[in-house]
Amino acid sequence: MDTRHFHDVLIIGSGAAGLSLALHLPDSCRVALLSKADLNQGSTYWAQGGMAAVLHNRDTVDSHVADTLQAGAGLCSEQAVEFTVRNSRHCVEWLVEQGVDFDLREDQPQQKKREFHLTMEGGHSHRRIIHAADRTGRAISEVLTEQASAADNIEIFTHRVAVDLVTHDERCQGAYILNQRSGRVELFQARTVVLATGGASKAYLYTSNPDGASGDGIAMAWRAGCRVANLEFNQFHPTCLYHPKAKSFLITEAIRGEGGKLLLPDGQRFMQHFDPRGELAPRDVVARAIDHEMKRLGIDCVFLDISHQPREFLQTHFPTIMSRCAELGIDISAEPIPVVPAAHYTCGGIIVDTNGCTDLDNLYAIGEASSTGLHGANRMASNSLLECIVYAESAAQHIAANLQRIATPNHAPAWDESQVTDSDEDVVISHNWDELRRFMWDYVGIVRTNKRLQRALHRVQLLQSEIAEYYGNYKVSNDLLELRNLAMVAELMIRCAISRKESRGLHYTLDYPDLLAEARDTILYPQTSAAQGEPDTQSA
Ligand code: FAD
Ligand code: SIN
Repeated sequence: MDTRHFHDVLIIGSGAAGLSLALHLPDSCRVALLSKADLNQGSTYWAQGGMAAVLHNRDTVDSHVADTLQAGAGLCSEQAVEFTVRNSRHCVEWLVEQGVDFDLREDQPQQKKREFHLTMEGGHSHRRIIHAADRTGRAISEVLTEQASAADNIEIFTHRVAVDLVTHDERCQGAYILNQRSGRVELFQARTVVLATGGASKAYLYTSNPDGASGDGIAMAWRAGCRVANLEFNQFHPTCLYHPKAKSFLITEAIRGEGGKLLLPDGQRFMQHFDPRGELAPRDVVARAIDHEMKRLGIDCVFLDISHQPREFLQTHFPTIMSRCAELGIDISAEPIPVVPAAHYTCGGIIVDTNGCTDLDNLYAIGEASSTGLHGANRMASNSLLECIVYAESAAQHIAANLQRIATPNHAPAWDESQVTDSDEDVVISHNWDELRRFMWDYVGIVRTNKRLQRALHRVQLLQSEIAEYYGNYKVSNDLLELRNLAMVAELMIRCAISRKESRGLHYTLDYPDLLAEARDTILYPQTSAAQGEPDTQSA
């Protein structure tokens, strides 16, 4: 059966970025909001620490801007940083209006208008992280989901996996979408399409990210002719729980913000030997220091100790972490937590302007899938939820202002699966998933070399040819689509890393340990570049 849908705006992704954009669009606009699993299964739901914003009376926009620029190691776009930070207070107000219940200061119970409780994280020179205990993402996600579900103009489709974008006359007109329940690929057409598909940290064996962070939007945009940038900068969060039964569980940086200390197995602190800011140095510095100590001493993990804080304080501020650790037999009020670094955030992505516009007409990208220039070579903690909300609003305004001028999409062919059969060997998919994520961890990890990167490039190209053959012969499934996208994005990450001949921010290579005088973005151009007048090969 040929199933077609038509909407004004198709939003692929239901995290902080996609949900906020849907809610910012005018009621007259008919919106389709898609997620590949349940609505709350992206990274947003798992965000712990909070969202950075200039809220304290002694904090300033200039200070937040300066900290972001410093963490970004010379590669941030000052315009993007200014734009994001200037909008931070207003975005917090919008979230509060929607119903998000951020924590208030406990020491002002009598005051009529209590201030927000603000935490501290690495790279920030002020307490500026607004939060809902250690489950900020969940608080935001649940409220925005409730609002979107109640909106008459927003139609929600879950368990729908975008396969590829539909383009015609150099403009985006929709996407082919796998309905996981029926197994059929449907055509969703729209005047405007928004990629809000999150990051690609699943490319690594160890990650803080939920399943599904497979870079689908980045791969789809690249295949449709959009440029991508700075994908060598994948952020490793320094502290994920190290326990055989804990898959992808983060220990928030706010623990270090509240005085948590990193310790070696013999109880010695070590961060002071690496950076004067100690445990609150930016993430790239802390993750590298831990990696260095683990390799030097041949240890499996280091420890994070917050046991100096009273039990009640920990229960109020870190209830999720406390109970998850307790389930595994770790009492964080009495003993240190075993931790290791893990892939956490994709700083690069699809190149966009301050309205979220990509190189392709009528295609927008927002949130972790995009590269706005905010993060440069290293994202400062808690700047990403902020980026999702700020760019969701600017993109929504741009879409609303232009929608009436966009013609109805042309007729597009239905998905053709007459040449493919059901797969008879799914082991090919699971084997390639494992292989990809392991060599990315080993060769494209925290410390890189030319040789390791070349090995990784060779391997990813072999995998891609196997995957292409499989894709050409068998019906698509979620696992196959994710593997295809992940291999694509892994190749882009490796190519970006190979072309950077210096160590900057999150990209650290033993072959070029120094910083070059000039900071330049790594920009990749696809063969069929939608970026007018640009070469079709890689450039830095
Ligand atoms: P996501 O929230 O990841 O949502 C992606 C959406 O796209 C999902 O709905 C998914 O189903 C959908 N999707 C993806 N591919 C497809 C496809 N092919 N078809 C259909 N749908 C698709 N940042 C902070 O600022 N502060 C924090 O405290 C913080 N803590 C974090 C803690 C953890 C454990 C993690 C993993 C991240 C944290 N981050 C934090 C980062 C932040 O959560 C993310 O960068 C941000 O939530 C990304 O939002 P998003 O809307 O871009 O994508
Ligand atoms: C954390 O809570 O440590 C994560 C914050 C972030 O990734 O911004």
